[in-house]
Parts: sequence; structure tokens; C-alpha cells
Amino acid sequence: MENFKSALDLNRWSADHGRTRILVAASPEQISLYEAARGGMVGPQPATLAVDADQTIPGERLQNVDLVIVEVDVADQGSMNRLKQLRTSHPHILPVAAIHGTSVALMRTLMHEGVADVIALPLDPVEVMQIVLDAISRLDGNSRQDEDLAPMFAVVRSIGGCGATTIATHLAAELGSRTARARSAVIVDLDLQFGTISDYLGVNPAVRVDDLLAAEDRLDDDLVASVATPVNDKLDLIAAPETILPLESVDTDQLLTVLKLLRRQYDYVVLDLPADWTSWALSAVLESSAILLVVETTLPSLRQAKRRLDLFQSVGVRDADVKIIVNRLEKKLFGTISFADVSRTLGHTVLHGISLDQALVSTAQNQGQLVGTIRRGSRFTTDIAKAAELLLGAESGGVN
Ligand SMILES: Nc1ncnc2c1ncn2[C@@H]1O[C@H](COP(=O)(O)OP(=O)(O)OP(=O)(O)O)[C@@H](O)[C@H]1O
Ligand SMILES: [Mg+2]
Repeated sequence: MENFKSALDLNRWSADHGRTRILVAASPEQISLYEAARGGMVGPQPATLAVDADQTIPGERLQNVDLVIVEVDVADQGSMNRLKQLRTSHPHILPVAAIHGTSVALMRTLMHEGVADVIALPLDPVEVMQIVLDAISRLDGNSRQDEDLAPMFAVVRSIGGCGATTIATHLAAELGSRTARARSAVIVDLDLQFGTISDYLGVNPAVRVDDLLAAEDRLDDDLVASVATPVNDKLDLIAAPETILPLESVDTDQLLTVLKLLRRQYDYVVLDLPADWTSWALSAVLESSAILLVVETTLPSLRQAKRRLDLFQSVGVRDADVKIIVNRLEKKLFGTISFADVSRTLGHTVLHGISLDQALVSTAQNQGQLVGTIRRGSRFTTDIAKAAELLLGAESGGVN
């Protein structure tokens, strides 16, 4: 207890430590010094990993970590590369650089690399506690700001044609219909090369998402509002570009700014993502409140779904934020994979299933209508409504 500055600090440390997962990754020598120094300390302590300053930190050790105190040797290119790699592969993890010496130039270099704070080696356990508490209060500040942001759901496919866009459009409309406000939900067609949402929803926007992505500093609420095309009185669409846009031309920061503006203007934001996993697509997914992975009860779909789940895990998406939707469920499942098999195969719970209704869904889409507009109370729309309800329940902590 005497190691801590005050009992209050210790209480905060213990409480925050329960919520925040911390990893200290430093060379074996530094880890032994740190572990010896914190020997008799009270309260939960960060996990440690003995790894040289230029060696990769294994992905599984970063899983579910919120803050990493990582040894950095600024003079060693391998060590600086590791820091850069950590920032790009795990953008949601707050990095604190543990360094020898603390010159202003050194600090500036590290801040430029996006570190949240700097701590001196050898690590002093009390200083570790202070740094972590500071970082957490900054994080809390950010998340309090983020509370003003509407939930954003990213819909991703397991394999092409599994129905991701169909589910994204109907889910967005369903979410919009759940609030009293007009134009309360927006769907963004980020399938920039092959997006078909404007066809599915029967609208022909004159301005599209590329007008926002190219807007640079002209981007503001008014521009976003002018690009959003009404689909019905509850749902707006930001359509995919008319001409094929190279995926690598998207600026991640610009996209994230667009999404943030949308989350301030609408009650719900739904994203339809492309097949290719670019870094901007991963960033959009990481910013989302939940990711809906659409699968079918076929082996190719489940195999690809598993690969997506692994990808999400490797970039630090929390398991609980991934929701599996099983599409094209048939009443009779002779000889096919059952609903229950899906969660067993994927090692992940299933949020809900959506019935197959070939004639109804394709008729609606061919007419540029939502299924609910051409027929009320179908199994398909009931399933979508239930999925939305479960999703919102899970969002507010009710389910999962
Ligand atoms: N539950 C369903 N019942 C009947 N037809 C469906 C269902 N879900 C999707 N479809 C049909 O499957 C086809 C593909 O759907 P959709 O375009 O939504 O898939 P996708 O995963 O977005 O495909 P892509 O990989 O091309 O983006 C469409 O013709 C659609 O009408
Ligand atoms: Mg699609």
C-alpha cells in the first residue's frame, strides 16, 4: 500500500484496471526489474511480456488489450518499425513508449509516431500506475464525447452474393422506422466499385459518396446533408460512386470524418462494405459499434466467415462486437448445415437468422422497393425486425 501515492489512487487503479487491459512489453531484463520492483504491490497489475525492443509482439498477446506500454529504442529502426506496425495493425490500442532517457527531441519523435505518453526505463510501478490512470481519464473523456455519436453498424459479407447488401438496406430501414424522427437512419454504400444500393432502393442520386470523400476541408454538415438522398421518410442513402473508384484512392481520415458527421446527424448509421479489406475498410469497421457478418449455411460461406473472424480478431475487434446473421434460412433443412451448426463451426454465437424468400426479395429489389413496402408481415421482414431488436438490445448491453 505504501507504494501508492494515496488510497484514492489505489482505489481508482483497482477499479479502472478491471475495465482496462494493460500489457507491458519490454526486454527480458526490463521485465525482471519491473516485476521485482512491483513485488509486494497491492491491487491488480498489468500483464507482462518479455520481448526484445525490435521483436514483434505476438498478435494473440494484444487481443483485447486497451493500452500497451512498449519498450522503444528510437535509435533502432527495427524498434521504430515495431511501433509503427503496432499503430497500424492495432489502432484502438493506446501505446505508451517506454524509453531510456527523455530528451525533448526524443519525445517529439515519439509523439509524431502517435504514442499517447512516454515513460522512463527502468519502469517504476507507481509511475506506471499514474501513466495508466492519466491515459484512462483521457480515454474516458473521448468516449464521453463519443456518447453523442449514433450507433454505427458495419455489414460485411462472408462470400459474394450472401445477401449482405439486402440485409444492410432492410436493417437500415427497420432501424430508421424505430424512431419518431424523420430521416433518422442513413445507409452508406461503401462498396465503392460495385455498390448497388441505389438500384435496390430505386433512387438515382445526383451526388454520391465520392463527392464527400473528395471534399477535403469543404466537408461539413451541410455538404453531408446535400449528398444524402431520401429513400423514404425514415431512411437516407449515401450512394456508391457512379464510376468505379480505385479503392486505394480513399483517404482514411476523410472517410472517418464523413462517418463521424453522419453519426452526429442521424440516429443510426449502417455501412455496406466492399469485398476487399483495405485499411480504410478496417478502420471503418473498428469505428463501428457492431459488425454484422452475413453468412449462409454453406461450407464456402462458413469457411470465409471464419477467415473474416480471424482477421477481425487480429486487428483487435472485440469478439462481442461481431454479430453473425445467417441469411437464406429455409424452413426445411434436408442435408444442409443447421442453424446451430453455424455457431459451433464459427465458435461464435449467432445473432439471428433471415428467411429465404426468393420471389419476394427479388421482386422488391427489381422494383427498387423495400420488401416491407410491397408486402407487410412476411417472414423476411419479421426476421429483419427481430435482428434489429436483438442488435439494439445487444448495443445497450441487454443481450450477448
Ligand atoms: N433472404 C433472402 N431471400 C431471398 N433472396 C435473397 C435473400 N438475401 C439475398 N437475396 C438475393 O440474393 C442476391 C444477392 O444479394 P445481395 O446483393 O444482397 O448480396 P451481397 O452479399 O451484397 O452480394 P455482393 O457480394 O455482390 O455485394 C440478390 O438477388 C438478393 O435478392
Ligand atoms: Mg453487396
